[in-house]
Amino acid sequence: MSTPSSPLKAVRGTRDLLPPETALWVHVESVARSVFSRYGFGEIRTPIFEATELFARGVGEETDIVSKEMYTWEDRARAQSEKAQSLTLRPENTAGVVRAYIEHKLGERGDLQKLFYIGPQFRRERPQRGRYRQFWQIGVEVLGPVSSGAESPIRDAEVLEMLATLLDELGIRNWQFQLNSVGSSEDRQRYNAALREALAPIKHQLCEDNQRRAETNPLRVLDSKDPNDQDLINALPKIADYLDEASRDHFAAVLAALDASSVPYTINPRLVRGLDYYTRTTFEFTVPDGQGLGTQNALLGGGRYDGLSEMLGGPKAPGIGFAIGEDRLILTLQAQAEAAKNAGAPGLASETWVSKKLDAYIAPMGPERNPAALALARELRRAGLSIEVGDGTFRLKKSFEAADKVAHTIIILGEDEVATNTATVKTFATGEQKKISRADLVEALNSKQ
Ligand code: HAM
Repeated sequence: MSTPSSPLKAVRGTRDLLPPETALWVHVESVARSVFSRYGFGEIRTPIFEATELFARGVGEETDIVSKEMYTWEDRARAQSEKAQSLTLRPENTAGVVRAYIEHKLGERGDLQKLFYIGPQFRRERPQRGRYRQFWQIGVEVLGPVSSGAESPIRDAEVLEMLATLLDELGIRNWQFQLNSVGSSEDRQRYNAALREALAPIKHQLCEDNQRRAETNPLRVLDSKDPNDQDLINALPKIADYLDEASRDHFAAVLAALDASSVPYTINPRLVRGLDYYTRTTFEFTVPDGQGLGTQNALLGGGRYDGLSEMLGGPKAPGIGFAIGEDRLILTLQAQAEAAKNAGAPGLASETWVSKKLDAYIAPMGPERNPAALALARELRRAGLSIEVGDGTFRLKKSFEAADKVAHTIIILGEDEVATNTATVKTFATGEQKKISRADLVEALNSKQ
């Protein structure tokens, strides 16, 4: 146990978000909500923990996430009759959304379900800049019965075009969008077999991690960043050569729709992603090195998961979605705003979040004026103004300094003002000071904004 003198700290890999930085988080989330609502999305909130089996079945036992990164515990039985249950803090939200889709029979509504979520996820990864054990995702999922058009390539293109719009509205610059098709699960099986065969004779030349991946999950070798292995990996078979005709046509239609909406993309034949549920379209958006993320340059990832509902015991419900790493989005906005400022560039769209000053600071002159100051603050706040109240024990100079830091104006409330139902108002920007009757105060303060 720690001694009483050593203060407790947030757990490794978790962090506190404090004002004024939280204003940027709120800004990002409100822009996301505004964009999503223009595309017809509604919010879904699923639990932060789920049965472990959901992720084992949905995300895949062999994936890094499930095999080594989950926070899992045995939840005690409450009664003798109840069995203990293995529960897990959600490492991602697609499996939970699809579980909710099945549980609430959303498919029976017949139409396309367009859902978004904003919330924390948990993975026991090695913490570093842009990689945390509790991190936030802003994600969307579009799914439904085949008759709702959920399988159509236009859905893929619409989701991707929406992402481009969101990043542009947030003022993220230099984003790069890469996509690929990983085909149907049958295509993947054939490709996996081909990869294993191609890897067998060269395996011993790869790094230790890749040797292990070549055995357990050969697709993961394609993700490897090990510089010594790149030539060998680039020479491996490409998944594009193993797609069936339907998957090839689907991918071509997605690309045509992206071209039509002028969303710039690069095809990356090695992009297979680390979760087992993906089929057909997979994608990632990155920002170049040196723009806030260090080596963790994936801002977001996503793709299609046409078989996931069936894997979880549900009806056929093809779907596509993405999750943005909100922590990484914020780091990027901050780094890009900083770089723009240093280069003397005019304001980025992202600067709209900079915290604003309050309308007024009320300075009661003497503790006897504290009740009147609070009553005035209540009246002004109810009229829609943002107000800070000082303290009657502060000297006038201290009140002025405190007010200048946080507000546009200071309202001085002395014995005389209270007796005559007035207030003395000083506007910092102009230096103008005036006595104003209480009846005119709201209007006067509104005109000073
Ligand atoms: P993912 O690629 O595992 O996909 O995560 C999406 C994004 O979450 C990443 O690109 C990254 O920005 C962020 N992220 C992941 N791990 C961390 C971490 N430890 N610290 C900070 N940020 C992190 C999914 O989660 C899928 N559910 C996405 C999806 C939705 N696919 C279809 N629908």
